[in-house]
Amino acid sequence: MQASGYMKVVKKKEEVRDALEDISRIGFVPTMGALHEGHISLIDASRKLKLYTVCSIFINPTQFNNATDLDAYPIDIEGDLKLLEAAGCDLVFIPNKDEVYTQSIEDPKYLHDFGALETNIEGAFRPGHFKGVGQVVHILFEIVQPHSAFFGEKDFQQLQVIRKLVDMCNLDIDIVGLPTVRESDGLAMSSRNRRLTPLQRSHANLLYEALKYAADELGQSSVEDINEHVEDMFKNDPELRLEYFEIIHASNFERMHQFEGQKEVRGVISAYAGEVRLIDNKQLA
Ligand code: PAF
Repeated sequence: MQASGYMKVVKKKEEVRDALEDISRIGFVPTMGALHEGHISLIDASRKLKLYTVCSIFINPTQFNNATDLDAYPIDIEGDLKLLEAAGCDLVFIPNKDEVYTQSIEDPKYLHDFGALETNIEGAFRPGHFKGVGQVVHILFEIVQPHSAFFGEKDFQQLQVIRKLVDMCNLDIDIVGLPTVRESDGLAMSSRNRRLTPLQRSHANLLYEALKYAADELGQSSVEDINEHVEDMFKNDPELRLEYFEIIHASNFERMHQFEGQKEVRGVISAYAGEVRLIDNKQLA
């Protein structure tokens, strides 16, 4: 598989290692494809640091706790390759499942215990999700051996899990988190947005409106009152069903019950538009 221009496209680990043999500084952007401007901002950040930029596209089955969600995950390899090439990506790795999981899928080397960080908030609604993310990212890091790896803050709990992975496994990789890229009405860019009907799409920015409300109110209203108000915002919306809204400590994703001027406080939110699950988050303090 080879896109036009200078970008290499490979499917095998050996091809990745061959292509990177003489490269000294590698920037890595792992993705599940269906790319959008948020992903491209990660490629841009790697290129700005003058790193040889590698992007992987792999829909990792072990991080889906719901088979329907896995089956419905959008795939657009041709579109992805066009975007990556235009962005100046150097190498794209598109492995299949057997290529990633050469050993047993249960190899304990890659199954880490991230503690409360993997069971709180998103982890409570998607059991096993972060274990699967940690597993695949660790395997991909071993294949690509990057100096820096780039992740969006849109999946903030995932970013914290990956920071913990690098820390626990003593991996010499700089983890760079980059701000969420948003549509003009505030909706966080996500591959899942492609599945929204026009009507759902026109309501979907309510997640960001709720986060902005929380950011304005924190310190003025109690956490309980903010939570109640956000619940009401969703009760009044016929297209969206709130799954959770929480104000949390960013380091461990523990719920915050009272705000007393703490730092690193985030609002995190998840809601369904029909079958499509949307998440977002925002630093509140
Ligand atoms: O954020 C994603 O797209 C995925 O969770 C990741 C990091 C590529 C692991 O499969």
